[in-house]
Amino acid sequence: MTIENGFEAAFGTPPDQSGAAPGRVNLIGEHIDYNGGLVLPTALRETVEVAIRFHEQPTVRIKSERFEGAVDRSAGDPSSGDWSDYAVGAIAKAAELGWISGGADIFIRSAVPDGAGVSSSAALITAILRAVSDFANADTNPVDLALHARSVENDYIGMPCGIMDQMAVGLARHGEALVLDTVSLATEIIPIPREWRFVTIHSGIQRKLSDGRYKQRFEECETARKALNAEHLCLLSEDQRRAASQLPDPLGGRVRHVVSEHARVHSAVACMKSVDVAGFGALMNESHQSYSEDFEASTPEIDTMLEDARARGALGGRLTGGGFGGCIVCLLETNDAADWASDFTSRYPKSWIVSV
Ligand code: GLA
Repeated sequence: MTIENGFEAAFGTPPDQSGAAPGRVNLIGEHIDYNGGLVLPTALRETVEVAIRFHEQPTVRIKSERFEGAVDRSAGDPSSGDWSDYAVGAIAKAAELGWISGGADIFIRSAVPDGAGVSSSAALITAILRAVSDFANADTNPVDLALHARSVENDYIGMPCGIMDQMAVGLARHGEALVLDTVSLATEIIPIPREWRFVTIHSGIQRKLSDGRYKQRFEECETARKALNAEHLCLLSEDQRRAASQLPDPLGGRVRHVVSEHARVHSAVACMKSVDVAGFGALMNESHQSYSEDFEASTPEIDTMLEDARARGALGGRLTGGGFGGCIVCLLETNDAADWASDFTSRYPKSWIVSV
């Protein structure tokens, strides 16, 4: 069933407009998009699709294929902690931009798991903003759309995220990695070498970025940045690096992760361009160690899973996304990645394959 037919079945009338955006998996470069770093995500094949009908009443009625019934909200509602906030926030943003007035009925179909570190929220917000921008003939360029989508997260939801997810779901394509400079927003596309397979597996450990731990890491980085009198933690001068090495933990560890991760992304870009799969895999492994030990954003179960993935042939593996649970991403060089992934997940009853 198309998303338009799905809308009609749910609401009894055809929609005005539809839109879509993919999930993303970050290959390397974690928690550095708000620290001035370079990041390297790619788009998943899996997408979030929306179909929308606009109306003059200030109400937002949301139906999702995942849930029975409807969620009814008011277009001017503050965020409430519910998943529907992303849709209400996107509609409010579109109204603020003058693209629409009033509210909307929205039908959602998503193949991107929530709370898994693969940007389901950025994909939902972007799919809605794309649809509304198209409906209003707003002719918005993808970078501006990403900035609007981020502002929904930062200003409406209250999540102090960087710009990686919105740029990735807006600009990256499956099979290509997006090199993103998070200061200039300059991008470069690198085709992922044909024999490389990035397998995204849900660890089975649920987490919510809004549970406060992401924000805590963000604030620790801010405290360190101010203490070092730096503009961006990823771009420290020699003197600032020396001062950083004197910072007590946990701040010292946070800066070690951020600085070393930024260097690893630069190396990883070079490895991908020169098709050095072993080099890329080793950088993913180092990235995870730093994320786990210095940034303290992993869990013991995920560390064990990743050790096992490497022992079973993954050339690299790391926890991807905001941390504390969700998905791991493993690099393989095989045509049998799907078999590898089903064999691997069968060993962890709570885990499941998100994307191969
Ligand atoms: C979340 C945020 C991103 C980024 C990652 C961690 O996905 O939305 O901005 O900070 O975590 O790299």
